[in-house]
Amino acid sequence: MTALTLSTSSAAALRADAVVIGVAKGPKGPRIAPGAESVDSAFDGKLAATLETLGASGAEGEVTKLPAPAGVKAAVVVAVGLGEAPEGAAGYDAEALRKAAGVAARTLSGAKKAAFALPATGAAEVEAVGTGALLGAYAFTAYQSKAGAKVPLAEVAITGAKPRDKAHKAAAERAAAVGAEVNRARDLINTPANDLDPKAFAAAVQSAAKEFGLKVEVLDEKALAKGGFGGILGVGRGSATPPRLVRLAYTHAKATRTLAFVGKGITYDSGGISLKPAGHNETMKCDMSGAAAVFAAIVATAKLGLEVNVTGWLALAENMPGGNATRPGDVLTMYSGKTVEVLNTDAEGRLVLGDALARASEESPDAIVDVATLTGAMVLALGDERFGIMSNNDGFRTAVHTAALAEGEDSWPMPLPPALRKTFDSPTADIANMGVRMGGGLIAGLFLKEFVGEGITWAHLDIAGPAFNEGGPAGYTPKGGTGTAVRTLVRLARQAADGDLL
Ligand code: BES
Ligand code: ZN
Ligand code: ZN
Repeated sequence: MTALTLSTSSAAALRADAVVIGVAKGPKGPRIAPGAESVDSAFDGKLAATLETLGASGAEGEVTKLPAPAGVKAAVVVAVGLGEAPEGAAGYDAEALRKAAGVAARTLSGAKKAAFALPATGAAEVEAVGTGALLGAYAFTAYQSKAGAKVPLAEVAITGAKPRDKAHKAAAERAAAVGAEVNRARDLINTPANDLDPKAFAAAVQSAAKEFGLKVEVLDEKALAKGGFGGILGVGRGSATPPRLVRLAYTHAKATRTLAFVGKGITYDSGGISLKPAGHNETMKCDMSGAAAVFAAIVATAKLGLEVNVTGWLALAENMPGGNATRPGDVLTMYSGKTVEVLNTDAEGRLVLGDALARASEESPDAIVDVATLTGAMVLALGDERFGIMSNNDGFRTAVHTAALAEGEDSWPMPLPPALRKTFDSPTADIANMGVRMGGGLIAGLFLKEFVGEGITWAHLDIAGPAFNEGGPAGYTPKGGTGTAVRTLVRLARQAADGDLL
């Protein structure tokens, strides 16, 4: 894991393998961003001209490496593009800093220590650089033979920061906690389903709960049957590894608000009897990304000691075809007592979440936020970089969207049109688990709404698009599991703690 430190040292004076500086796009070519003055001096003030000669423009994502001159302790200078330089006194946008720090950290894999001399004078900028660097340094190497494996950059030192300043210290602590926890979610998502089944996932939560002093309860298949969790059991019954419902609770003595986070945790989604065709199942180990995000966000909340109560509900099951699997046409009795005709066993997320939402509602939290790789329809609607936000409360939906935006987690508000509710009427049961094809993401949201307790504020994040990056790495986002929604959830917890949410 990459360490994060703050240093008062100048960029040139810090002993490190490399020094990272920012280059912005100016009207007349590349411009060295603040923070790198000492490095520029060592180049006799000609660093911008040198970079331009090397073809640098300051564009976002651009990396230029050059040997450091005498006067710079590090051997290498890594210049990363920040995009357009801000006008006048405005500072650099947090997301531009996160992305640049992330790109730099990734290119420095294998190095021991790097000085990050990006424009970070305020606490918010220190947090952005720290978070971006820790997220960009991530590599998933658990299954690679040691020789060829990528080794993450070991230490990120932010220069020009104030290690004794309360706000700077808190910013670095937030970056370290959130960075490590997003990476924990990524590790879980990237772990193949043959090693991460519901039982193994629950065990991982139990061990973290012990480490961080959280309360944890795991309902196994027997307890689920006794409790009447027909949705979770119905989805899990085709698999050789039975389902689990995990309750993970962080409490603070001074808390006045309680949030419930609910995560879809399908450790593998084959589609079940409504089997997915080849081409649609290769990445389905990622179908537990919602549960991973909830788990990671609660650990981060605990690490930061936020004055809020947060309860996580992880609905864990493997969706497989098998002799005992739920068939299309079967009727399940959900935890809430509602009956559901399963028309398509591939619409399993809403079944496990329906049970978890109903159970979470019994504790009357101030708000529930669920996170799920729920529908392909949401990917068609918003693309693979944005999650959709639905809610039974417009103000809350806006608050969640604003929180996501502040964290640089791309997302968009989506409606829950009442007219679509009747599309999943069933002639046999109370409702069916599928409606019409058009608006499939909204229909899934409306299905979940059926299981949210009367009067409880609720938001639903459909992260099917951004949960798993099938393209190349970009900014601080690696290939594979991204850990999307962790940062939004932690920010919501922080806002609730500060009395700024509900
Ligand atoms: N896990 C999938 C959704 C998904 C798709 C996640 C792409 C990540 C990337 C979900 O369980 C599913 O299969 N949904 C069906 C629902 C349909 C049968 C009503 C879908 O979206 O096609
Ligand atoms: Zn499915
Ligand atoms: Zn699924």
